[in-house]
Order: sequence, then structure tokens, then C-alpha cells
Amino acid sequence: MYGATLLLSVAIAAQAVLGSPVQKRAGYSVKETHFVPQKWSKIGKAAEDFAIHLNIGLKQSSFDELERHLYEVSDPDHGRYGQHLSYEEVNDLIKPTDKTSSLVQDWLRANGIEDLGFSAAKDWISVTLPVSVVERLLDTEYHVYEHEDGDQLVRTPEWSLPAHLHEHIDSIQPTTSFMRATGQKTEFLQFPPWISPGYTPPSNATISKVCNISSVTPECFMNLYSTKGYKPKVPGLNKVGFNNFLGEIPIRPDAYQFLKKYHPGAEDAAYKFPQISIADGPAQDGPLTYNQSLERTSMEANLDVQAIAGISDPTPIISYSTGGSPPFIPDTSTTENTNEPYLVWLNYVLGQPIVPQVISTSYADDEQTVPKAYAERVCKQFAQLGARGVSILFASGDRGVGINNTCISNDGKNTTMFVPLFPSGCPYVTTVGATHQFEPEVVAFRPGYFDADGNYREIYSSGGGFSNYFSTPDYQTKVVQDYVKNLDGLYDGLYNKGGRAYPDLSAQGQYFAYVWNGTEGVISGTSASTPLMSGILALVNDDLYAHGKPPLGFLNPWLYKKGYKGFTDITSGSAAGCGVEGFNATEGWDPVTGFGTPIFPLITELAKK
Ligand SMILES: *[C@@H]1O[C@H](CO)[C@@H](O)[C@H](O)[C@H]1NC(C)=O
Ligand SMILES: *[C@@H]1O[C@H](CO)[C@@H](O)[C@H](O)[C@H]1NC(C)=O
Ligand SMILES: *[C@@H]1O[C@H](CO)[C@@H](O)[C@H](O)[C@H]1NC(C)=O
Ligand SMILES: *[C@@H]1O[C@H](CO)[C@@H](O)[C@H](O)[C@H]1NC(C)=O
Ligand SMILES: *[C@@H]1O[C@H](CO)[C@@H](O)[C@H](O)[C@H]1NC(C)=O
Ligand SMILES: *[C@@H]1O[C@H](CO)[C@@H](O)[C@H](O)[C@H]1NC(C)=O
Ligand SMILES: *[C@@H]1O[C@H](CO)[C@@H](O)[C@H](O)[C@H]1NC(C)=O
Repeated sequence: MYGATLLLSVAIAAQAVLGSPVQKRAGYSVKETHFVPQKWSKIGKAAEDFAIHLNIGLKQSSFDELERHLYEVSDPDHGRYGQHLSYEEVNDLIKPTDKTSSLVQDWLRANGIEDLGFSAAKDWISVTLPVSVVERLLDTEYHVYEHEDGDQLVRTPEWSLPAHLHEHIDSIQPTTSFMRATGQKTEFLQFPPWISPGYTPPSNATISKVCNISSVTPECFMNLYSTKGYKPKVPGLNKVGFNNFLGEIPIRPDAYQFLKKYHPGAEDAAYKFPQISIADGPAQDGPLTYNQSLERTSMEANLDVQAIAGISDPTPIISYSTGGSPPFIPDTSTTENTNEPYLVWLNYVLGQPIVPQVISTSYADDEQTVPKAYAERVCKQFAQLGARGVSILFASGDRGVGINNTCISNDGKNTTMFVPLFPSGCPYVTTVGATHQFEPEVVAFRPGYFDADGNYREIYSSGGGFSNYFSTPDYQTKVVQDYVKNLDGLYDGLYNKGGRAYPDLSAQGQYFAYVWNGTEGVISGTSASTPLMSGILALVNDDLYAHGKPPLGFLNPWLYKKGYKGFTDITSGSAAGCGVEGFNATEGWDPVTGFGTPIFPLITELAKK
């Protein structure tokens, strides 16, 4: 990690020069504090001229009303079902009041800060500033923090605002957020490292012919989920998008090779989909260079595009690759971009009048690495997309209820607990878990093992849990309470009974046939399940359009009321993690597989009713 090392040396040099204690600015008081997550340590003062792309979240004027609209247009029993809001209507509801806007801008101007950027609804202000200026503005001190794995971020655990602005600003980042949303996938291997000794091959002749436990393919998914033979009818109108972060971009020749082998006839799609690189995101989508392959880059992006195109072709695909902040130009003191890419993508896509009707994201991080105010704000932005008729899908994670030996709270008390993920636990998104095997499908799982190089590979187990930030939304109260009641006290104190529970659904997610760097192999993860489910929902939307109906939009109110009948209940396996068996899959909804896996003809039938 050349860049990271350089950042460290610069940081320490700066500390020697500065090292002065924080001065409290007159009229300021602390707006937010957040514990530095485990595995991160402070290694030195941030360089004074380190560039920070600051995002200031202004209080939205009428989010409550937006939420009311969202639930009305997403509730199949409401008269307004399917009457999604326009881009303008959403922006009107969430734009800050004039008073909020002018107070915040006056404050920035008084601090000599100009050249402000605005989100479409003017609810976020962005500006690139050196650390020294942000430190004065927020009466704080930035440090370089290093993760055990060598990654570095420039952050502060506490910041302040003038008292009169507290009620006008929800969140400012990057400050306290240590979120590094990572792809929810396992290692890429030529052969599966383990097959369940209890596995019995399917008795159904068709399924047994096309579904290979060691390497599952689009042909298997099409038969298993009964999309086989469905021909998209309105591929001009209907689209499916997916997100890439951390320098990832789908590699077109790999996608071509995959589709040519596993979905012959669809291979041209590999070169057709638009690649949208936001905020200096990567643009090189040809074969990986040798150096890129050594960094094992684009494994996640390849999986996403191959899973989607494998099932939904010829539905048009859009790929978004978001870099840190615009424009990021490395210089001698700033070699690494440690800004927050997530919000950059959200503000980009919310600024587009037309967006894909389904958007898949396979990235997540522990909820407790994200400060609550910021998580709430990002979650609200998913609601804004939902109100416009977009289905937002997220992966539920690959570590069951949490990684063994890391299941403790981040509040300074080290309380033992399960570790939910964000944004998987946001109530306005639909979260997807992973299954394996065919008759029946069971929760995806592979035990931990030591690989050929002696490295321990953690247990892979489909993620599930309960948010500690977001409370149980009405649409799932009944099934969640029933599930908790059946637990009969098991795991009490380890999870939030009143939290938003996830996932909502699941799909195959183990030993996907896959191509990376010109090489065939297999890969696993809810990172596979999520784009697969997204591709299938894109086909449902196609059928809805073809019948003159609006797209599914925010799925959950429909799903928990009647859509669930279009899914196969998964009843075996558990969200193994934190050294315990974890939540079991049960009859009906459970926080491991949600309502289960799709039965395409039933879903389209229910959606058209
Ligand atoms: C086998 O599976 C296919 C695809 O799901 C289905 O159409 C068929 O009815 C099944 N056959 C039997 C005998 O269950
Ligand atoms: C199943 O996939 C594995 C891995 O690609 C392959 O070695 C094996 O031959 C396949 N089995 C069948 C019956 O096709
Ligand atoms: C590949 O990485 C090595 C080691 O970091 C570097 O010396 C070399 O210049 C890189 N090659 C290219 C083509 O970027
Ligand atoms: C990627 O593919 C190239 C070309 O086949 C090969 O030289 C390189 O070793 C591969 N990289 C990895 C990490 O396997
Ligand atoms: C919590 O754990 C961290 C790291 O494992 C340790 O440094 C800290 O002292 C612990 N705090 C308490 C209150 O036990
Ligand atoms: C969890 O970690 C403990 C302590 O390291 C170990 O004894 C135990 O076997 C682990 N459990 C699982 C399921 O990996
Ligand atoms: C979870 O499932 C396993 C395997 O079926 C079973 O042994 C265990 O009792 C179940 N646990 C609960 C809490 O239902």
C-alpha cells in the first residue's frame, strides 16, 4: 500500500509541527460524537492541506410528508398505489426551507467559504476544503486513522457547530463516519472449497440437469425461478442499474466470456451497457492490466454485471462506478482519496430526472461504523428514490449475525452483541439474503477453513439481523414479532427486538459460475444473490409495463402484504455467526432468508392484480 504509507509519513510530519490543543470557538457547541470503531487506531494528525470534500446535509423541509407519499404509492391497498412521484415533486418536498438555506450559507460565507456545490434539491451543500479550514469551521481536529488491514481514513470523532445551526444541519461528512462499504462476496476459486456432506441432488429431472451444486449458472436460475422462456417486451423503457465503489468497474471482456459460455446470444450485452463513472470513478473497463489483476480489482463489479445480465438480458443495464470526490488529483501530500463515495452516488442519481427502476448494491458495512445521523440521512435518500418508483436492493451480508470474536458494541462498553449492517437495515430498501442447494434451497453456508497459503477463511453464512438505529417499520411488525416470540428468549440482549429486521428476500448465492481476469471459477456471496434478484425484478417490471402497469417501486409494503406469496419459503439453515448458530430459517418470514426465493410467474401474477 504505497499511497497509504506516504499518507502516514506526511501525517506524522505535520503532527510534529502542529500538535496544538483544540480551541473551543465562541458560540459553538458539540453537534456530534461517535466512537472510533474497533480495529481502527489513530496514527497521527492529518496534514493541514489534505483536501476534504465536505458534504453538509441541511434539514429537509417535509420529509415526513414524503414518507407518507412513499407509503401510499407503495401500498397495494391504497388508491394511489403505483402513482409514483416525479423528480420535481420529490425535490420540492425535501428541499430545505429558505431560512435553513440562508443561515447555513451565511455561516459558510462568514468563514470565507465560496464555490459551493448543491444537490438537486439543495439539501446537500458540498465544497472541497483543506483540513485546516474544516477544522476551524467545525471546531475540531482531524487525524489519520488506520484499520488493521492497512486502510487509512482522515476523520474526527467529534465536531461542533454554532448553536443556532444545530437544528438546521442534520449531518456533515466526512467527519465521524468510518463506513467503508465493502463488497459482500467471498474468495474467487477454481473449485468450490466445500460441499455439504448432507447434500442430495434434486429429483426433478430438469433441475438436476441444469443445476450443478459446484457451479451454479444462469441456466439453473432460469429453471429454478421459472424465468425460462420469458422474453422482455419493453426493453426500451425498463432498466436495471447497479453500483460499484472502491475503484471497481465491470470488465467487459470478462462479461463477454461469461455470457458467451453461460447465456449464449446475450454476449453482446457485455459491450452495450453504459458505464457511468461519477466523481472521478474508474473508467478502464478493458482487460485488467497485470497490476490491476494483482490487486484483484473488479471482482465485485464482474459478479454484479454477470449475475444481472445472465438473467435479465436484453433488459438494458446501467453501471455506476463512483470514485471519492470530484475531482481527486493526487499530490505530494494527498495521495489517497479517503472521502465518502456513498453520498456522492446518491446525490448524483437523485439529480437525474430518469433513473433505472431497479438498482442493485452489494456493498455494506457494520452499522456501528456509521454515525446514526448520517445513516438516517442516507436512508432517507433511498426513500426519495422509492417514492419515484425505484426498487432499491441491498445485500444482507455474508457473515450471519456477525464475524466470530468481533461481536461487541462500539459505544465504549464492549457489550457482546450481534452486529447488523448498513444500509441492509434501512427500512426503505429491500435486503436480499443468500441460499444454496436446490431441492430444497437452504441458507447459504460454508464452514471456515485454512486455505493453501495458511490463511483462515471466515465462515460464509448469509447475513441477517435487526438494526440498532431503525425501528421495525409497520409493514413487517407482525412477522417480526411472531419470529421474536418463537425465539422464546434465545439471544435476548444480543439484538434489538424493536429494530428493522432483514433480509426481506433471498436468492441463490453460493458457488456462482463466474469469469474474472479471463479465468473461469466460482464465487459466493449475498453480492451474487442481490444482482440476481435485481435482474428477476427487472423482468417483473418489464411484464408490468407490457400490461400498462407502473413498475414495482419500493417493494416492501407490497411484499409483506401480498407479494410474499410469490416466493418459496426457505426453512432450513441459519445466519451462523458470532460463534453461535444464529437466527434459524423457519416457516414463514425469518431474518435469514426473508420470505424466500422467487417464483417468477407467481410474482408477475400477484404484481398485476
Ligand atoms: C421440475 O422443475 C421445473 C422447473 O421449475 C418445473 O417446470 C417442473 O414442473 C418440475 N417437474 C416436476 C415433476 O416437479
Ligand atoms: C459441475 O461443475 C464442476 C465445476 O465446474 C465441474 O467440475 C463438474 O464437471 C460439473 N458437473 C457436472 C455433472 O456437470
Ligand atoms: C505495476 O506496479 C509496480 C509495483 O508497484 C510498478 O513499479 C509498475 O510501474 C506498475 N506498472 C504499471 C504499468 O503501472
Ligand atoms: C491475469 O491474467 C493475466 C493474463 O492471462 C495473467 O498474466 C495474470 O497472471 C493474471 N493475474 C492473476 C492475479 O491471476
Ligand atoms: C474495549 O475493547 C478495546 C479493544 O479490544 C479495548 O482497547 C478497550 O479497553 C475495551 N474497553 C472496555 C471498557 O473494556
Ligand atoms: C469462535 O471463536 C472461538 C474463540 O476463538 C472458537 O473457539 C470457536 O470455535 C469459534 N466458533 C466458530 C463457530 O467458528
Ligand atoms: C434451529 O435449527 C436447528 C436445526 O434444525 C435445530 O437443531 C435448532 O433447535 C433450531 N433452533 C431454534 C432456536 O429453533
